[in-house]
Formats: sequence, structure tokens, C-alpha cells
Amino acid sequence: KKIKEFRVTLLNWYDANCRDLPWRQDHEPYHIWVSEIMLQQTQVATVIPYYQRFMKQFPTIEALAQAPEDQLLKAWEGLGYYSRVRNMQRAAQQLLADYDGQWPQTKAELQELVGIGPYTAGAIASIAFNQPEPAVDGNAFRVFSQLLEIEADITKPQTRGIFEEAIRRIIPADRPGDFNQAIMDLGASFMTAKNPDNVHSPVREFNQAYIDGRVAEFPVRSKR
Ligand code: ADE
Repeated sequence: KKIKEFRVTLLNWYDANCRDLPWRQDHEPYHIWVSEIMLQQTQVATVIPYYQRFMKQFPTIEALAQAPEDQLLKAWEGLGYYSRVRNMQRAAQQLLADYDGQWPQTKAELQELVGIGPYTAGAIASIAFNQPEPAVDGNAFRVFSQLLEIEADITKPQTRGIFEEAIRRIIPADRPGDFNQAIMDLGASFMTAKNPDNVHSPVREFNQAYIDGRVAEFPVRSKR
């Protein structure tokens, strides 16, 4: 029952307050993929103009697969971590060569593509293909560790599975992509790392760490 109330509260808040971002205008897997790769090491506000230019320049998987390297690197200039865009081009080529240009839709198959790990695969599977898959990045670690008081050490590789299992029980089958993106928006607004504002958070009554006055203890990181 608490889970149902949480879902409704979160999604109602998201419906009224979700950020209007260019990659949220449709559910094209190519659009979701490019945005999620850009957002991995870069803030939303920085990504927006890069994303818009990139989509004008490389509007399809085919365009990306065929792009000359200098154009590709130029489009990425300022974002850094150039292996991200190099891997994207290899994955685009892989999609055309091995998948006939058709996106695989499961999280497991998506992870076969170069540069797509569990987070990105979960984001694409949920947002583009409506699969009830968690998308666990640093943001989700922070938000769910607080909501559920998960004490597992997020620097340990096996901890991802603990979070994924917990999130699978909560993620709604009818709106998994919106759910994951609502968690991202929550982590960027009320449940931030530096200046959380739980007093005004739409989910404060579901945030166990806040209720217990333990917000600063989560997420748990042993080695620092
Ligand atoms: N950060 C990572 N993915 C995001 C998304 N889809 N929307 C907003 N912020 C994000």
C-alpha cells in the first residue's frame, strides 16, 4: 500500500513539474540513448545545446555510423570523455551490421552494445521501450538509499544488484520510464547531494532517512 501511494505521489508530482527537456519530446531510442550518454558525466544545462546540435548534425543511427571522425569529435568538443562518442559510433555501426538497424528492446540485449552498461540499458529499456527496468546511477543510489535506508556500500560492485532488486518492487509496470525520470528530477531538485530540501519534497513522508533525521548518512560509501 505504501508502495502504491509512493508511485502515485511521485508520478503526480512528475506530471505537474517534470522538466521540459529536448530528449523528452518523444521516446525514440536513438534520442534517449544520445541524451543518456551525454548526461553521464555532464550536467543537464550543459548538455541541452550539445544535444540539439548533435541531433541536427547526426539525426539518425545511420548518420552517426557514417560520420567522419573529425566531425564527431568536433561535435563533442567541450563535453570531454571522448571515448563516449567513439563508443557511440561503434555501437551505431554494430546496430546496423548485427541488428539490421533495429534496436533490441531488452536490458540484457542492450548491454551487448558498445558503451551501454546497466544504467544506460535500464534507461533506454524503460524510457524508450516501457520495460520495468531500474536505471541505477549515482542519483538513484542517493535517492533510493535515503527513501529505503539502504545501508549497502555503494562503492561495492555487488550493491547495484541490491538497489535494482529493491527498485524492481517499486517501479510501476505502466510507466517505468516516467518513474525513472521522476527519480532523476527528484534527485536534481529536492533530494540533491549538497543542499537537499526535504521539507518541501513531494515524497518527504516516504523518505525514511528524512523521517529519522539520517539524510546525511546516505548513500553509504565505505572507502573514501
Ligand atoms: N540525467 C540522466 N538522465 C536524465 C534524463 N533522462 N532526464 C534528466 N536528467 C537526466
